Amino acid sequence: MQIQENELVLVFYNKEKSWLIKVSKGKSLHTHLGFFKHDDIIGKEYGSSIETNLGKKLFLLKPNTNDLALRVKRKTQVVYTKDSGYIIARTGLCSGMKVVEAGTGSGVLTIMLANIVKPLGHVYSYEIREDFYKLAGENINKAGLRDYVTLINKDVKEGFDFKDADLAVIDLADPWNVVRVSWEALKPSALFVAICPTVNQVEKLVSELSKGFVDIESVEILLREWEMRKDMSRPKVRMVAHTAYITFARKILI
Ligand SMILES: C[S@@+](CC[C@H](N)C(=O)[O-])C[C@H]1O[C@@H](n2cnc3c(N)ncnc32)[C@H](O)[C@@H]1O
Repeated sequence: MQIQENELVLVFYNKEKSWLIKVSKGKSLHTHLGFFKHDDIIGKEYGSSIETNLGKKLFLLKPNTNDLALRVKRKTQVVYTKDSGYIIARTGLCSGMKVVEAGTGSGVLTIMLANIVKPLGHVYSYEIREDFYKLAGENINKAGLRDYVTLINKDVKEGFDFKDADLAVIDLADPWNVVRVSWEALKPSALFVAICPTVNQVEKLVSELSKGFVDIESVEILLREWEMRKDMSRPKVRMVAHTAYITFARKILI
C-alpha cells in the first residue's frame, strides 16, 4: 500500500520517538534527528523508511486507531488501552451495536468504541463542558470516525435521549447518579460499564446498581511491560500502577 497525499503516517524512530504527520505537498518534518520533505514519501510503501538529511532512518507506518487515540489532544484524564481493550472484550462489543456514553472528555474511549461498532453501529456520547465537547469532536474527526459518533453537549443526568442501547459506558466522577438514566436507555439484559479511579466511588456505584442490575463485577487491569534482552530479560522498573476500577453490570427488568 502506497502513501498518498493527505494520509496520516506514523513516522517511527523508536518507542520513545515517533511523529504522526498528515502528508502535505511542500511541507517537511523537522526533528532533532534531522528533516525530510513530505514530497519524498508520497508513493513510498507503508513499512518502508526514509533517511533524514542527517542520515537517520525513520520508518513510515500506517497508524491504527490505537495510535491515533494515544496521540489526540488531551485535556482530561483518558481511558488507557489496557482498560478500553478489556471493556470491549468483556462486553462483547461488536459492529452494529448502539452505545450510550458519558462523559466524552477528550474522546479517547469514544474513538476506541466507535472503531468497533462501525460501520453499522453508533456511539451517542454526552459531555457537559462545551470546551471538552468541541475538543472531542476535533479528536474524533482526526481519527476518521465522525460518521459513527453523535456528540451531545448536555448534562447526562437529565437523561440519555436514546433508548434500546446495547451498552452504557460511564466515565465521570459520580456514576451512581447516572445509574437510573442508564437503566432507562438500555435494552433489558444489556451491559452497563463504569470507570472509577477510586474504590469509594465503586462502593457507592455498586450499592446503586443493586436496584436494577445483576451480575455486578468490579475489576482492575494491571499491565506490566517487559524489557527483553538476551539473558537479561525482566519486567520494566516503572509501570503505570493504577488507572481505574472497571465495574460491569447487566440490566434486569424491575
Ligand atoms: C474522565 S473524563 C472522561 C474521559 C474519556 N473517557 C476519555 O477517554 O477521553 C470525564 C468527563 O465527564 C464529563 N462530565 C462530568 N459530569 C458530567 C455530566 N453530568 N454529564 C456529562 N458529562 C459529564 C467531564 O466534563 C469530563 O470531561
